[in-house]
Amino acid sequence: MARQFFVGGNFKMNGSNESITKIVEGLNQADLPANVQVVICPPAPYLGLAVAKNTQSTVEVGAQNVYTKASGAYTGEISPQQILDTGATWTLTGHSERRTLLKESDEFIAEKTKFALDSGIKVILCIGETLEERKSGVTLDVCARQLDAVSKIISDWKDIVIAYEPVWAIGTGLAATPEDAEETHKGIRDHLVKTIGADQAAAVRILYGGSVNGKNAPEFKDKANVDGFLVGGASLKPEFVDIIKSRL
Ligand code: G3P
Repeated sequence: MARQFFVGGNFKMNGSNESITKIVEGLNQADLPANVQVVICPPAPYLGLAVAKNTQSTVEVGAQNVYTKASGAYTGEISPQQILDTGATWTLTGHSERRTLLKESDEFIAEKTKFALDSGIKVILCIGETLEERKSGVTLDVCARQLDAVSKIISDWKDIVIAYEPVWAIGTGLAATPEDAEETHKGIRDHLVKTIGADQAAAVRILYGGSVNGKNAPEFKDKANVDGFLVGGASLKPEFVDIIKSRL
């Protein structure tokens, strides 16, 4: 099954009008491959700016989080409708920093994912294990648990992209080896065959995230189940273009 290569950029809580304008203008000037789907996720205050500045047809803008309601007394939250209002079309859900720092449960993340999809937003669903869980050999059990919370309430996965991000590789400079990533991605895909069916499991993109950079991205090129990347720190740098081109 040919799956379109996908590169997401999670800016996290970084950026300003000036720096985000510079990043988007840098992407505008790059000779990006027509067959690579790119989604950049700036902090919420800059969604409209990124949409307005973007001139690349293969680049879309996404939020980093979303709430489970369209409007109301939910101070500080952002609805899918408001994200769409900025011109953004994607959102992250389940990032490990929200699972750990903000104690978001698998069920809450599943509810966010469902409401975003039902509202017309596409979702990058983040999963992944901690170092302790990896050392205990329960990586796939953790990924399955996180995915099952979503497949329990969502049957149509065409607008979901999964990002497998081992927590121990995020921001550490210590990326998983391409072999380890491929093994886990294959395990995730095999699990999805049982829960969302063979066709959807074959079609869904599974991204790798965790210390991806311009140097190591090409090393994942021949990994059949690594369909792209979700990039943190390096998405703020010119090497983000190298990552987008890493399958050429
Ligand atoms: O969502 C992507 C992020 O968690 C990975 O961060 O800085 O290790 O690429 P980084």
